Amino acid sequence: MPSDKTAPWTIESVLRWASDDFLAKGIDSPRLDAELLLAHALNTTRMQLILDAKKPLLPGELGRFRALVKRRRAREPVAYLRGEREFFGRSFAVDARVLVPRPDTECLVTVALTRTRHCSMSMRALDACTGSGCVAITLAKERLTSHADATDVSPDALAVAQHNALRLGAYNVAFYEADLFPPHGHAYDIVVSNPPYIASSEIDTLMPEVSRFEPRIALDGGPDGLSFVRRLLEGGRSVLSQEGVLAIEVGDGQAPQVAALFEQNGYRDVECARDYGGIERVVSGVWYTPTK
Ligand SMILES: C[S@@+](CC[C@H](N)C(=O)[O-])C[C@H]1O[C@@H](n2cnc3c(N)ncnc32)[C@H](O)[C@@H]1O
Repeated sequence: MPSDKTAPWTIESVLRWASDDFLAKGIDSPRLDAELLLAHALNTTRMQLILDAKKPLLPGELGRFRALVKRRRAREPVAYLRGEREFFGRSFAVDARVLVPRPDTECLVTVALTRTRHCSMSMRALDACTGSGCVAITLAKERLTSHADATDVSPDALAVAQHNALRLGAYNVAFYEADLFPPHGHAYDIVVSNPPYIASSEIDTLMPEVSRFEPRIALDGGPDGLSFVRRLLEGGRSVLSQEGVLAIEVGDGQAPQVAALFEQNGYRDVECARDYGGIERVVSGVWYTPTK
C-alpha cells in the first residue's frame, strides 16, 4: 500500500507492493514478474512503465493487475498469465496445454542449425514432442526452404502449435498426432526432440510453477527420466537419412549417460552442447546407415 493511505496507486507504488509480496512468497524474480504482469494488465511495455512511473492507475487497470497478482501468488507461471513467451526472438502463444518454452531449449535449435549447414536449403526435419511448436516453427522460420514435421501425442498441445505456426507464418511445418514418429516419416536430415525427461519420482519435488501447472505428460520421462531418449535413439535409426543427425535435449547431469547411449546405439560424432548456464543440455550424433 502507498504510505499515505489516501494517495492513489501509481505504477511505481503498485510495482513495489507486488514485488515485495512476490519476494515474501519465495518467487525467484519478484520485480521482473511484477513488471511483466503490470505491463500485460496495462497493455504496454516494461520500458513505458519506467517512463510513466508516477502515473496513477485507473480502477479497471488496478483490478486487472490485482487478479494477475493473485494467480502469480499461487505460483501460476508468468508465461501462462501473459499468454505468451519469447523463444529465439519470436513470441509464442502458450497456455496450460503446453510446456513453457525455456531459453535452454534454444541450444537445441542452435545445434540443429549448426549440424545441418550442409543441407540448409533442402533440410527435412522432424521435431518429436513439439508442445507449443517452438522448436519446429523456429527451424522452419530460420530455414524457409526446408520442411519440418512435428509430432505430439497431445491433441491439446497440437492445437497450440498449429495456432503458433499460423500466427508466425510458418507454412513449411506439418503437425501430426503421433507417438514420437509420424507414420509415413523417413529420410530426415535431422530429428530433434525435447522429450519429457524428468524421472517420475522427482516431478513432485520440482518448483510449484512446474509441478502444479505444467502438463505432466510434458515432464514425465519414466523411472530414470530416459524412457523417451531410448526410444528416440532406437527409432531414429529407421527415420534418419544417411548421415542424418539426432539431437536430444537432456536434463542437468544426464548428458554423459545419454552420450554413452548414443554410442551404444551406433551413432557417431557424438557431441554435447552447453546451454546459457554452462550445463550440458543437448546431446547429438550422426547416423551412418550400415553398408550391407
Ligand atoms: C518437454 S515438452 C517439449 C515441448 C516443446 N518441444 C518445447 O521444447 O518447449 C514434451 C512434449 O512431448 C509430448 N509428448 C509426451 N509423450 C509423447 C509421445 N509419446 N510422442 C510425442 N509427443 C509426446 C508432450 O505432450 C509435450 O508436449
